[in-house]
Formats: sequence, C-alpha cells, structure tokens
Amino acid sequence: RHVKLSFREDIQQSPTYVSHNHSLCIDTPDNNPDTPFEFTVDNLKRIDAIISMYPEGHKQAATIPVLDLAQRQHGWLPISAMNKVAEVLEVPPMRIYEVATFYTMFLRQPVGKYHIQICTTTPCMLCDSDSILEALQNKLGIKVGGMTADKMFSLIEVECLGACVNAPMVQINDNYYEDLSPKDIDQIIDELKAGQVPPPGPRNGRFSCEPAGGLTSLSEPPPGPGFGVRADL
Ligand code: FES
Repeated sequence: RHVKLSFREDIQQSPTYVSHNHSLCIDTPDNNPDTPFEFTVDNLKRIDAIISMYPEGHKQAATIPVLDLAQRQHGWLPISAMNKVAEVLEVPPMRIYEVATFYTMFLRQPVGKYHIQICTTTPCMLCDSDSILEALQNKLGIKVGGMTADKMFSLIEVECLGACVNAPMVQINDNYYEDLSPKDIDQIIDELKAGQVPPPGPRNGRFSCEPAGGLTSLSEPPPGPGFGVRADL
C-alpha cells in the first residue's frame, strides 16, 4: 500500500538527502498502520494539559507538541503514531501528515541513539561547515542520511538551526554544539561513544554568542538611573 503524503518529491530539485523516504510513506515491517503505538498514561495526562492551553474546539492547535510527545516516547514517528495523534486530537490523519512531513524535526524513519543534524545553510557554510560534515562522515563511516551499524549514530543535513552566530554548529538530540572545528567532532563523538554527554554550547572559549574578539560596546557597568539628569533641577 502506498500513501503519498506530499508533493515535495515533484518539486525537489537540489541534490540533498531528501529522498523517497522523506516524501512517501511506504509500509515496511516496522512502519505501517498496525505498528503498535499507544500513548503512555503519563503522556495522555500531558496531552490533556497541552490541549487545555488552547480554546475549546481547537485541539488541532496542539498538533506539534503532541507529535513531539509521540516522537519522544517512541524515538521516531511511525505512521501508527501519527494516526494516534490524529485520533486524540480528533482531526483527519492527513492534517497530521501535513505537519509531520513538513518539519525535519519530525523523524519518520528510525534514527540512531544519537541523531546528528548538521547545518549547512549559508552562514554555517561560510564558516566551513563542509569540514565539519567531512569530519563527521569520516569519524562515523556513514554518509548523510545514514546510520551506523550499531544504531548509535545517524546523520542528516538540515537548514538553519537558528544558531548562525555560533556557526558552524550541529544539533545532537536536544543539544547544540557550536563554534566547531573538525577536532571538536572527534572529541564529541568519542565522548558519546564512552557514554558521556559532552557539555553543549560553544567550543571556542566563548560563553555564549558574544563577539569572539571581546566586547566593543556596553563594556562598562551601566551608570544607573540618574545618569544625565541636571543637578540643578
Ligand atoms: S546557518 Fe547554521 S545555524 Fe543558521
């Protein structure tokens, strides 16, 4: 049985990782309408709390957080989980497929224990994300769209993750690793393999996204409320 979920296949022109797997849902032994999926009791309570944030009659507004909950419970989103989300939100399944197929954050194929998303959009590309991608592929022995044989790591290429000022960067599960060099990739992957979670954030000594060469403004303590008020007034 083939269910076509979007027309992206027809308009996709660039040679990215996007493949038939991303625009079609084709039944497989571990991804079909009968794949077991039920929300846990705790997650059903969370769903009630999420829905209660929206006006009466607008359960559909909870689509993204409830899909996210389903994904966190299962690790990825089989079609049966999307159908369950449609059921609890009382909307046609197509309304859920439309959302799940649009965002790369929703994973419609199994992924590794550590799912690596590398940003290669312009600011990251200008800061040499190519070298980061190459380091990842060499270290893991997989290409974009692949998963290591032990199912520990999967790798995809994504558009801007909103951390351009800390380019180049990757997202691994929920953590951002920023201001990367190829040697950082070696360390990060080694630590993950050793069962540790490397601290997220910049790797070049920056605390956050302040200028790499030090502050150029707002470098003194603020003068406080009274500043500029004439003494004779
Ligand atoms: S371009 Fe890479 S995070 Fe924005």
